[in-house]
Amino acid sequence: MPKRLIIVGAGGFGREVHDWATDAIAAGAAWSVAGFLDDNPEALDGFEMPVSIIGPASTHEPADDEVFVCAIGEPRIKLQIARSLRARGATFTNVIHPTAFIGQRNKLGVGLVLCPYSIITTNVTIGDFVSLNLHGTIGHDATVGDGCTLNNHTDITGWVQMGEGVFMGSHASVLPDAKVGDYARIGAGSTVLRSAKPHTTVVGVPAKRLPSFETPTRRAG
Ligand SMILES: CC(C)(COP(=O)(O)OP(=O)(O)OC[C@H]1O[C@@H](n2cnc3c(N)ncnc32)[C@H](O)[C@@H]1OP(=O)(O)O)[C@@H](O)C(=O)NCCC(=O)NCCS
Repeated sequence: MPKRLIIVGAGGFGREVHDWATDAIAAGAAWSVAGFLDDNPEALDGFEMPVSIIGPASTHEPADDEVFVCAIGEPRIKLQIARSLRARGATFTNVIHPTAFIGQRNKLGVGLVLCPYSIITTNVTIGDFVSLNLHGTIGHDATVGDGCTLNNHTDITGWVQMGEGVFMGSHASVLPDAKVGDYARIGAGSTVLRSAKPHTTVVGVPAKRLPSFETPTRRAG
């Protein structure tokens, strides 16, 4: 019996991942798509999908015949839900579209989504729960930490070191040897030349840190 693939997240990316999974099944992947987990039972209302929402991820008890993939864009939420499901025994699988290209000598984690026309070249190391969206590329000797969300046309070049939970907007680039800290956000169309610090948002070409707007503390006296 093929394993039942459950997609965690029934938003727009979830519906895309459903379609990439059915393409992968047509090309020989050994699962059937069973449905979605989502806290919002109405997330698929108005969309004609062949499978429905099974229930919320927070209470789902994984069964032996189920495998999972996470289709959530926000890295922190994705990692929290995926790690919680894994702690309850869930097994994650990789949804790899038949048009994705994966070169040689790469180390890939689990729970990956490799979308149409994405490319991973050579000697790349990728953690768990990473999504590489349409036309995204990861170049030679790069490392990408758990839970990164790499949107359409992102370009991670050679020797880049990227921490966990990084969000790259559409058409963002990171130049060779650059370092991107955990949970950094790189704006759409932006280019990181050398580094982006952890937990910062950087935008522009070259990418500069957005000021953080913290509530000013009133001076006593
Ligand atoms: C970088 C980003 C996360 C910041 O979002 P935010 O914290 O809500 O920031 P704001 O929209 O309030 O913008 C803050 C400032 O940064 C600027 N800015 C935001 N994104 C920018 C970008 N990608 N490039 C250049 N400047 C940008 C804004 O113009 C604004 O400048 P101002 O203060 O001078 O007016 C967001 O703009 C972005 O690029 N997201 C990527 C979206 C994407 O590609 N999604 C793909 C999946 S659908």
